[in-house]
Amino acid sequence: MQKIGIDTVGFYTSHYYFDIEDFAKARQLDVNKFHIGLGQYKMGIPAPDEDVVSMGANAAKEALQDININDIGALLFATESGIDQSKSAGVYVHTLLNLPAHCRIMELKQACYAATAALQIAVSLVQRQPNKKILLISSDVARYAMHSPAESSQGCGAIAMVISTEPRVLEIEPAYGVYTEDVMDFWRPNYKEVPFVEGKHSSLVYLRVLEKVWDHFCSETDVAFQDIQHFCYHSPLPRLVEKAHKLLKRINGKSDLLETHIREELDAALKYAHDLGNTYTGALYISLLSLLTHTKENLSGHRVGFYSYGSGCVGEFFTGIIQDNYRKMIDTSVHKEMMQSREPLSYEDYEKFYQFALPQTGEEFFTPRFQTGAYRLKGINNHQRLYEVAQKKNKKKKLVTDPKTKEIFVVKAVSPGKLILSGEHSVVYGGPALAMAVDRFAETTISPQLSKMISFNLLSFRYKDSFTIQTLREIKHRLTHQYQRFLHGEIGIKEVLQTPFELTQFAFISLLDHVNSKIIDGLNIQTSSTIPVGCGMGSSAASVLSVLYAIARFCKLNLEKDRFLRLGYEAEKLQHGYPSGLDLYTSLHGGCVYFQNGQAALRPLPANPFFLVNTGTPDATTGEAVTFVKERFSEQKALWKSFEEVTHAMDRAFQSNDCAALQLAVRENNRLLTHIGVVPERVQQFIEAIEKAGAAAKVCGAGSVKGDRSGVVMMMADDQERVSSICQRFGYTLETVQGTLQGVESLYD
Ligand code: HMG
Repeated sequence: MQKIGIDTVGFYTSHYYFDIEDFAKARQLDVNKFHIGLGQYKMGIPAPDEDVVSMGANAAKEALQDININDIGALLFATESGIDQSKSAGVYVHTLLNLPAHCRIMELKQACYAATAALQIAVSLVQRQPNKKILLISSDVARYAMHSPAESSQGCGAIAMVISTEPRVLEIEPAYGVYTEDVMDFWRPNYKEVPFVEGKHSSLVYLRVLEKVWDHFCSETDVAFQDIQHFCYHSPLPRLVEKAHKLLKRINGKSDLLETHIREELDAALKYAHDLGNTYTGALYISLLSLLTHTKENLSGHRVGFYSYGSGCVGEFFTGIIQDNYRKMIDTSVHKEMMQSREPLSYEDYEKFYQFALPQTGEEFFTPRFQTGAYRLKGINNHQRLYEVAQKKNKKKKLVTDPKTKEIFVVKAVSPGKLILSGEHSVVYGGPALAMAVDRFAETTISPQLSKMISFNLLSFRYKDSFTIQTLREIKHRLTHQYQRFLHGEIGIKEVLQTPFELTQFAFISLLDHVNSKIIDGLNIQTSSTIPVGCGMGSSAASVLSVLYAIARFCKLNLEKDRFLRLGYEAEKLQHGYPSGLDLYTSLHGGCVYFQNGQAALRPLPANPFFLVNTGTPDATTGEAVTFVKERFSEQKALWKSFEEVTHAMDRAFQSNDCAALQLAVRENNRLLTHIGVVPERVQQFIEAIEKAGAAAKVCGAGSVKGDRSGVVMMMADDQERVSSICQRFGYTLETVQGTLQGVESLYD
């Protein structure tokens, strides 16, 4: 009988995943439930510009590498996350891969079993026309309802196989056992985005059907359990596969049912499943690839048993023989690179990816650009999906200047907040200061929009508005004029900005004008921040920088860091009057910084986290506090000398990790800040109580010259319980804060 089987293989999954550890944290569940109970480690998550077509095309590109595409007689596309009720996903792939016109195309559906149905059809087609080859693509996005028990079994991936009469990977043997039963264990009506799942019931049916197909298989062939060296199972949950294997061994009279042995026997075949999640139709064949990739021993001539299961339900058991050349046919290094270079998503981004949806109104829409393979979903127009060849890595983002090509992308920049450890106020008079970037961040996301407006969505302020470039220039002009009036003493610093939002608008238009860049299309600028506003943690500097940096990356401008400092400084002046530049510098570079007269030197990050107490937004701005101090103390050289000495003492104490010296320096620093009048009385009382408890604390940042709040207070304490009860007494909350080496940086570019 003629050999028929898998000749070549291609594999693709998304560049992004969500770690099960982060998932467990977000859902407040024990991670062992997933690692041990279900065998899950990572979920593959498709980027907004990927779908079953782009993923399938990426896998097929690899499978077709050494195939004459004119030999392809049919393309069978197995999926249960199809994009259209009528048109096959395969037709889009046909175009992307330039396949011959004389080629049958169809999409197959029977839940996860569809790829096995396609494989058996492919074998029959090739039997009839041995000179033809069949391209089989399985591509799926397993998506479940958020917060449902099935959520952790999400995943995505595609596998493509060329089926021919000269199989170089696996010969498919003719015998099979098949079983169909009408059950409702998992189904997705046309009007639903996610399936209905009877999860536990589905697992029981999966196991029951295994027995049925095995019985049928045994009645059709002489091949016995012991003639099969390896097993691949449909892998929705690796732990269920282990249970299935144990069951099959037991019904075949095997006595070695030790969990550890079962796990070892399946280890190579399940490696990808642990890290991809469920890949539905592709899962069984990705398991074969995993087995061939992760087994060191030469498997040529070995028999593999396959259990295919698709809810609803259809199951099938069949076998195949691994071919001599299989190793040459699998590009393990490319797959390894693809798996290892994947990027973890934060919980926030996981939600954003999950919630992304194409418009259903038929309007023209371009998907944001993320890291993809060779093909991507470009967008949708008039209800038709548009695909394109993705630009190469690092060349994937283009400035939106050409309304005809409408190249688009999303840029996100994050910038840390800071704490001034020592030297606030004295830095304005040329004294040294120590500052540290901390793990609180401002974030700006920029994406194109088809309207010509520049829209600002400042999430922390719940502010949304849109402007023309011309209006933004008028705002900039007004703010520059107002700042001149402040310099001439005509108005106070608080009167320069009408609203805090204007700072973002000023930063945006300043950068654009500075580089003479023309944004012809509109933009969405969204900012958010975990840095408390107006509390001395550099929230305005971090926001301004994240805006400047995101715009620069969006426009593909390679600006030196100094230019960001200069532009940021222009914006900061509007808020603070005479800023020192320290906030900007620290946020730009990250780490711990010794700063004097615009010169900065990096210091090692203090090893231990600090305690932070937020006493509330001061009634006076930094600008007002700086002006107040300037008017009273600017000429007092001895005072600024004392500030300098305390900063040096603190610097030495940090470097030698001397906690006692550090506490002394913090106390002295507090005494000086109190002397210049920036520590409100209530905060003074709080710090006195802290000192009495054997700890030390000081205001970080400008403090306040009005009211009883001074922004954040930094604290060094050994006895957390004691200081915590003092905080409670004053109605303050205690947090820890850690230094970060991360400066401003952009994501997604
Ligand atoms: P669940 O109901 O939340 O899980 O979700 P659970 O509470 O039963 O726990 C799962 C296991 O973890 C249990 O072990 C727990 O004891 C254990 P078991 O009793 O099963 O051996 N566990 C822990 N272990 C260690 N430390 C801990 C801990 N806590 C608990 N701290 C469920 C499980 C399968 C229901 C869910 O993931 C789900 O609904 N998944 C989707 C459906 C599915 O994948 N079904 C598989 C068969 S159907 C199929 O394969 C077809 C499919 O691919 C679709 C298609 O064909 O198209 C889905």
